[in-house]
Amino acid sequence: QAGLKTEKIGRRIEYLEQCASTQIVAHQLAQEGAPDGTVVIAELQTEGRGRLMRKWDSAKGQGIWMSVILRPDVPPHKAPQFTLVAAVAIVRAIQAVIGLEASIKWPNDILFGTKKATGILTELQSDADGIQALIIGIGVNVNQEREDFDVEVQDIATSLHLESGQLVNRRKLVQEILHSLEIYTQMYIEEGFAPLKELWEGHSATIGKAVRARMSRETLEGIAEGITEDGVLQLRTADGRLHGIYSADIELK
Ligand code: BTN
Repeated sequence: QAGLKTEKIGRRIEYLEQCASTQIVAHQLAQEGAPDGTVVIAELQTEGRGRLMRKWDSAKGQGIWMSVILRPDVPPHKAPQFTLVAAVAIVRAIQAVIGLEASIKWPNDILFGTKKATGILTELQSDADGIQALIIGIGVNVNQEREDFDVEVQDIATSLHLESGQLVNRRKLVQEILHSLEIYTQMYIEEGFAPLKELWEGHSATIGKAVRARMSRETLEGIAEGITEDGVLQLRTADGRLHGIYSADIELK
């Protein structure tokens, strides 16, 4: 905690040498009443998980594997935007620490070029009274060499070390990410999504590009024109129609 600049996020940190997934631990802690801003960090995850039930490669000591518990006083329909807000916060924290600007692929992959350096997984605990907790899982590839990645992802994954040539101080980066997360989540809660939408679009690798959106039932191709106030991706197909994409795998063409 030494060096933390935050008031709320990270005031309680559960640091684990190893766990199945920090998401699972965070869900458990949230259910037990852990305060707003509690953070779970592990050196190694044996069952790190990604979006859409995918596995997340989380080797020992080379990345940041953490989950942040937030208890924002907002209605449930405002929850999905937290994922976009987190992406903005992380891109800016990475830039502050290593001086390189990554970009965001909708909704929340952080890329260098076409390779992924960070994934975000937001999960919700809610009941009839609304949001009980948001669990924001953040996985940052920090000091991996290419051969440290699983063979299947070597061509699509990268690390901050590979991009910058530096060995990156993970503690400093965690502090910066938590600080940035506090600033931008607060901004969202106080000022709404409009200022964040602008920041997100400014960092986006998707907007203005030709993309292919794979959804569970169909695949659409077109130009990604922007995101709405709800964080929904707007895709214009060749026939001129505008489609709202809520959940998809996006491929830049
Ligand atoms: C994705 O891009 O699919 C999201 C990846 C999220 C990975 C992080 S690592 C910390 C937290 N614990 C998990 O099991 N997953 C998230």
